[in-house]
Amino acid sequence: MKNIIAFAGSNSKTSINKQLAVYASSLLKNVEVNILDLNDFELPLYGVDLESEIGIPDRAHDFLKLIKHTDGIILSLAEHNGAYSTAFKNLFDWMTRIESKTFYGKPMLLLATSPGGRGGQSVLEIASGRFPFHNAQIVETFSLPFFGEHFADNQITDMGFNADLKKKVETFQNAL
Ligand SMILES: Cc1cc2nc3c(=O)[nH]c(=O)nc-3n(C[C@H](O)[C@H](O)[C@H](O)COP(=O)(O)O)c2cc1C
Repeated sequence: MKNIIAFAGSNSKTSINKQLAVYASSLLKNVEVNILDLNDFELPLYGVDLESEIGIPDRAHDFLKLIKHTDGIILSLAEHNGAYSTAFKNLFDWMTRIESKTFYGKPMLLLATSPGGRGGQSVLEIASGRFPFHNAQIVETFSLPFFGEHFADNQITDMGFNADLKKKVETFQNAL
């Protein structure tokens, strides 16, 4: 059976992006899903001086190994001031110091949501442009605007957005 990891680019304990990533992963058929949480991979703030001093922390190695050994990735990015959350960027920076081809060519379903009308599209665009340099194979992207209005009881309530996500999850599944 294929296996994937699903996680949010957020360290919020009530992350709406984690809720979206979990929902998207629930639409897969016959796939083992490992839900990850950045709070379990806490890392000091990256700095070149700190890296010289302490090397690369184990938790960055651990996360990278999870990417290396999975068949696919569902990642939903939180948007902070139009960009990655600090928690995600920090993990990403540490991992790139170990392996610049950080995503190992794994199929990726890249998502974003926010309470506002752009649904995290700015961070989605940044990641879509950048991740391929780190060997990401982005199969589909999906953004859900107005999370509070379009998501309830662990699922998307808007029929149009739900149908779009389902189609994209199917494409992702076929790429695994
Ligand atoms: C520091 C900060 C900056 C934010 N900037 C944006 C933004 O640029 N665009 C946006 O749509 N939402 C922004 N938000 C709102 C987030 O989208 C919202 O907090 C969302 O819940 C984050 O996702 P998460 O719950 O998965 O962490 C910001 C929130 C914070 C705390």
